[in-house]
Amino acid sequence: MPEIVDLRSDTVTQPTPEMRRAMAEAEVGDDVFGEDPTVRKLEERVADILGKKSAVFVPSGVMGNQIALAVHTQPGDEVVVAERSHIFHYESGAPGQISGVQLRPVGDETGILKPIDVESVVRGAFDWEPRTSLVCLENTVNKAGGLVYPLDDIRRVAEAARAHELALHLDGARLWNATAATGTPESEFSASFDTVNVCLSKGLGAPVGSVLAGSEALIQEARRMRKRLGGGMRQSGILAAAGLLALDHREQLKADHARAKSFADALSRCAAFRVVPPETNIVLFDTLDEDASTVLEKLEEEGVRVVPFGPKTLRATFHRDVTDDGLNHAISTIRKLFG
Ligand SMILES: Cc1ncc(COP(=O)(O)O)c(C=O)c1O
Repeated sequence: MPEIVDLRSDTVTQPTPEMRRAMAEAEVGDDVFGEDPTVRKLEERVADILGKKSAVFVPSGVMGNQIALAVHTQPGDEVVVAERSHIFHYESGAPGQISGVQLRPVGDETGILKPIDVESVVRGAFDWEPRTSLVCLENTVNKAGGLVYPLDDIRRVAEAARAHELALHLDGARLWNATAATGTPESEFSASFDTVNVCLSKGLGAPVGSVLAGSEALIQEARRMRKRLGGGMRQSGILAAAGLLALDHREQLKADHARAKSFADALSRCAAFRVVPPETNIVLFDTLDEDASTVLEKLEEEGVRVVPFGPKTLRATFHRDVTDDGLNHAISTIRKLFG
């Protein structure tokens, strides 16, 4: 059996022994009654990091995003998202079913919107138009290879949205990576948004959980919506305990970024690939000679696991369970197979 290097996603990490210990020993209570001290602690800590007044612990990133959509919109509204966004591509059509809203995907392949992308689609002046009520951005942009959403672009788009009295939500599943890459605090990236959802179970390595942050009023409404969706959990301090430790892993994301860069450098030296230099932990690369599925199978046979991202595109994601040995195995496999 070859050594396995799992680069499919940063969600494949195993909880650390410290996390398992903290989970076993967590002080817990019934969180639906607001009585779980470990959940409270996690919510307060994340609200503080994001510079928001309040926060609510939810089971997943999708649930956090969908709760945000529900609290910001009315059925029949339209929500502006980047064409590259996770909310548009990978949330099972939830906005239509849960909030009764339609999505308006805009922008180019970078997933970074310009003010005009928002200004040109705002509508609602006539009875026959849906009413635009919300803009959602994503940072980092997963489908654009973990691109950091530049602070200036966020501010410009937010200004355009505010001019039209639109609410703003940030899908910050990997906001931690944006901060690790730029040194800009999470709170600065978050300041333009009414709500921000962050994930603990991606690069930070917690087994479960996301946190949605915003004003006290919005988060109170979010708690009602979480319950409605079946996301009210009881002794969930067991999960929050791992989440609290995960927050201490933020600095270590820089090591994932460095490994992603080394892997991308190796790919770029190979005529078989075109690679976008990564800003964070996600490497997108095009296969120039063969289909992505053929390349994926060849890599898989050598124990290097990646995911397809299009007929000629693959994605490799670096995370805390990829060691230097794993990186070297992935690089030597690329050299061995593709020269
Ligand atoms: C940008 C982004 N948002 C949201 C999610 C959803 O998170 P979850 O899988 O926890 O529902 C993901 C998952 O990969 C993601 O990449």
